Amino acid sequence: LVLGVDSSTQSCKALVVDAADGTIVDLQQVAHPDGTEVDPSAWDKAFAEAAAPQLSRVKAVAIGGQQHGMVCLDAEDRVVRPALLWNDTRSAPQAAELIAELGGPEESARRTGSVLVPSITSTKLRWLAENEPENAQRTATVLLPHDYLTWKLQADSRRLVTDRSEASGTGYFSPQLDGWDTELVEMALGKVPRLPEIVAPEAAAGETAAGVILGAGMGDNAAAALGLDLQPGQVLVSLGTSGVASTVAEAPVADPTGMVAGFADATGRWLPISVTLNCARILQFARRLLGVDNDRLAELALAAPAGANGTVLLPYLDGERTPNRPNARGTLHGLTTATTPEDIARAAFEAMLCSVADEIQALDRLTARPTTSVMMIGGATRSPAVKEIAPAVLGMSVSLPADGEYVARGAARQAAWALSGKAEPPQWPQPDSETHTAQATPEVLQAYRQVRDLTEDWT
Ligand code: XUL
Repeated sequence: LVLGVDSSTQSCKALVVDAADGTIVDLQQVAHPDGTEVDPSAWDKAFAEAAAPQLSRVKAVAIGGQQHGMVCLDAEDRVVRPALLWNDTRSAPQAAELIAELGGPEESARRTGSVLVPSITSTKLRWLAENEPENAQRTATVLLPHDYLTWKLQADSRRLVTDRSEASGTGYFSPQLDGWDTELVEMALGKVPRLPEIVAPEAAAGETAAGVILGAGMGDNAAAALGLDLQPGQVLVSLGTSGVASTVAEAPVADPTGMVAGFADATGRWLPISVTLNCARILQFARRLLGVDNDRLAELALAAPAGANGTVLLPYLDGERTPNRPNARGTLHGLTTATTPEDIARAAFEAMLCSVADEIQALDRLTARPTTSVMMIGGATRSPAVKEIAPAVLGMSVSLPADGEYVARGAARQAAWALSGKAEPPQWPQPDSETHTAQATPEVLQAYRQVRDLTEDWT
């Protein structure tokens, strides 16, 4: 047996599987405080409850985690301040500064794989240097959330590890070198802190005191791709706290528009990825506004026609990253005295899916390959409204793998890989999936893009 962990923005999920074929043996989940600034001890506590009790029954463990979060340790390995997470936009001015210092968006994309946005770790380090110089001074080591949890499990407490997928989301990883670019971290923080060693996905990255093998772990998006065995030419959409569209590439990509980040994946290849800040929270917002639960929100949305009688929601509720509008707010457009709760519910689902359509369009532009179908995962896919509205808005067939914890499954697959000592990951049967199709509604996307472009100068 092996253990795969998903330490997400909201919870810790621990999945015990059979290393031979990925059959699920056990799943535990414990929530922890979320937000944009969190003390790493919150993740420890959730891990201790959900995952630690499983360690005695497994031979290997790997952790998939929310990407980019800045975890600073002092010279005695104490946490310096609460971690700033991927969804914290306070470092927008610092992202702009660093891009300018790098020589512009094109150079930022070429050198770091991404046009820097506030999610990326280096912008948070620059924020720390400018706003909390004492904390910057005390910072001796910088880790990502999952590196921190892996470190806590190491028998050798001096060993710090990460993997390419996580390193590539820091802003101080070089796609050309396929390794750290310490000049970039120095540029951000004013010094070169201790960074974790980047360990290959098939390699053991240490072991626990009880001899359980540790995988290097990975970012959650790379974990989902590994969990579903994503291949070049396939596009994976995840509707979670963030809305994500990703694909696998054999070579690094650099998108100067910033719509696509050129991260690495968890197999030794690359994971061009487009990530929004607002996804499941759009539905949460609509539920609160309308005073309804999930089921009722779906019923309302399905009772309105496509296009919600001209109601368009631009869902950049807490600022947005794709497109890069960190200070944006949402816009509800096209209201009349006849607008109904049904229209607003429909507009919320359409908004979430139109923002995904923008991501897919950006991936297509970069890979020069038109996407004609997607795999879709994440909590929001359980809604009947998503099943019906997604293929219509995206104008393509949508296949939904059976409900599964694909981030934790990807982490478990890496643990099994490290345990096997083989060059290739273990082949596990693909999950069953159901495919949904619908009459395309391009007018919905067109109306959304009009409102998106109209509001471009507002923030
Ligand atoms: C990826 C990103 C998010 C987090 C969510 O760039 O910021 O998808 O990884 O956990």
